[in-house]
Amino acid sequence: MSTPVKKVPIHLQSSQNRLLIKNGQVVNDDEIFEEDIYIEDGSVKQIGRNLIIPGGTRVIDARGKYVMPGGIDPHTHFEFEFMGATSVDDFYQGTKAAIAGGTTMIIDFVMPKNGESLLDAYANYRQKADSKVCCDYALHVIVTSWNNIIKEEMNTLCHQHGVNSFKMFMAYDMMMNDGDLYSVFEHCKNIGAVPMVHAENGHIIKKNVERLLNKGITGPEGHEMSRPEEVEAEAVNRACTIAQQVNSPLYIVHVMSKSAATTLKQYREKGTNIIGETLVCALACDGSQYRHQCFWHSAGHVLSPPLRPDPNTPQFLLNFLSQDVLQLTASDNCTFNKSQKEMGKENFSKIPNGVNGVEDRMSVIWEKGVHSGLIDPTRFVAITSSNAAKIFNLYPRKGCIAIGSDADIVIWNPSKTRVISAKTHHQAVDFNVFEGMECHGVPEYVIVNGRVCVDEEQLRAVQGYGHFIETPLYPPFIYNPEKVLDLKPGKESNGVNEVELANKLHRIEMEPKGCVTPTLPNSAVSTPCCKGARPEGQRNIQESTFSVSEELDVERKSCIKVRNPPGGKSSGFW
Ligand code: URP
Ligand code: ZN
Ligand code: ZN
Repeated sequence: MSTPVKKVPIHLQSSQNRLLIKNGQVVNDDEIFEEDIYIEDGSVKQIGRNLIIPGGTRVIDARGKYVMPGGIDPHTHFEFEFMGATSVDDFYQGTKAAIAGGTTMIIDFVMPKNGESLLDAYANYRQKADSKVCCDYALHVIVTSWNNIIKEEMNTLCHQHGVNSFKMFMAYDMMMNDGDLYSVFEHCKNIGAVPMVHAENGHIIKKNVERLLNKGITGPEGHEMSRPEEVEAEAVNRACTIAQQVNSPLYIVHVMSKSAATTLKQYREKGTNIIGETLVCALACDGSQYRHQCFWHSAGHVLSPPLRPDPNTPQFLLNFLSQDVLQLTASDNCTFNKSQKEMGKENFSKIPNGVNGVEDRMSVIWEKGVHSGLIDPTRFVAITSSNAAKIFNLYPRKGCIAIGSDADIVIWNPSKTRVISAKTHHQAVDFNVFEGMECHGVPEYVIVNGRVCVDEEQLRAVQGYGHFIETPLYPPFIYNPEKVLDLKPGKESNGVNEVELANKLHRIEMEPKGCVTPTLPNSAVSTPCCKGARPEGQRNIQESTFSVSEELDVERKSCIKVRNPPGGKSSGFW
């Protein structure tokens, strides 16, 4: 298997090569400032006022508009073979539509086919995508089982092919068990990769589907009934627990319900490094769609986890995004046409799961978040672009407007409006879950690696213009020792150094006279002291593992080398 050859960049003519964006409000995730931006050869070269620039440079006047990092959609499934169908937006139409909406980078998922190696699956995706993508892209890789071969393949993908994230399913046929999730999370931690999960309890869903079908519930309403929000929250809780035991970071994809988001919040409050992504469809739609009279309408909204019947869910998730309980938004764009959704006409569990969103994500979030007054433009940039760049180690090359950053920029006109419709969108799919929604805020110009690909709202995307972007290991935003994780060997969950702790306990066992309550590092655990009279006939279990001769030996020595303490060998003397 070899990585596809790197493409030679398409060179722009010198007049297209240089661009000055003047008079705009430049927005990063931490500041807004009014300065001009000079772009040359695909990257930001100067920022300031009265810049000295070469003659012939194109000038765009951004007065009254926001100049923001292009969106990064961290979760798409283009031409994805799934549930007996292939999603209709391929890497060309998908990335073209992304650009139309102000997104300048996507991250898709490599899904290995049955029996296919991770490396072959990755190579196939590169082959499919490289010649088609209109904007830059990266790849996560889906892991569906655990063994030494997978472990080695993960290493190779990380060290030789620019992958730094792996997704595991807790539902569907390819779901992994808890022990294997533990092993993959642990391995990700050991190599500095980001583990991601689709969190739903697949076993419960299977039983619920059987029960509902037996009762004659076959329509799309059965989809949500089979996967209620507790089933999502349970899996989020389990995944967080596993990550906590391993002390690994964890990225939860598509958090769709109040219960799941609340569970995630509780874990974040404990200091675990859990990242929460929610979907644009969850911020604008709810589960009432599954009760629509028209099958195609309901089926068109089927995705997993599903939209929730509680109508307050979108506002709840938006509030969590504004409070940084959730960190980022994706589309999970996985589009199936009406004819494909029809596969589930007699049985909801056969409706291919997935909806659109790659084109409309930015507009819908602007409308629901910024236009509504809940979040400011800097937070908008954080949740649509910068946080994805930080989590997948692309920042500040992506997700930021700074000297040296890639010129992936959207010039956003907050005064204009547009109405979303499948009739006018640029996606291949024949349905749109945001149909009829009016959005304030329009991407008037979208600059992709220095090229103006949306020009006064006219889409001029170029097939094959994008590149595969390697995502380096150990993203500082995730693996930040000062923030959450202590990566020193031996440091485990709750900051307890297990080897150290075990050694201390061992030392107590060796105390010849009474015992001492150990101080547990970073722990509120209190150990009952065994000082004082022991009832007759009751053995001190702490002493019971030692022979008398060993105990005598202890009394004679001023220090003891602990050769084989529980939890590992030690070379230290006590
Ligand atoms: O229903 C969905 N979300 N389809 C895409 C596959 C996945 O689970 O992300
Ligand atoms: Zn999923
Ligand atoms: Zn997905």
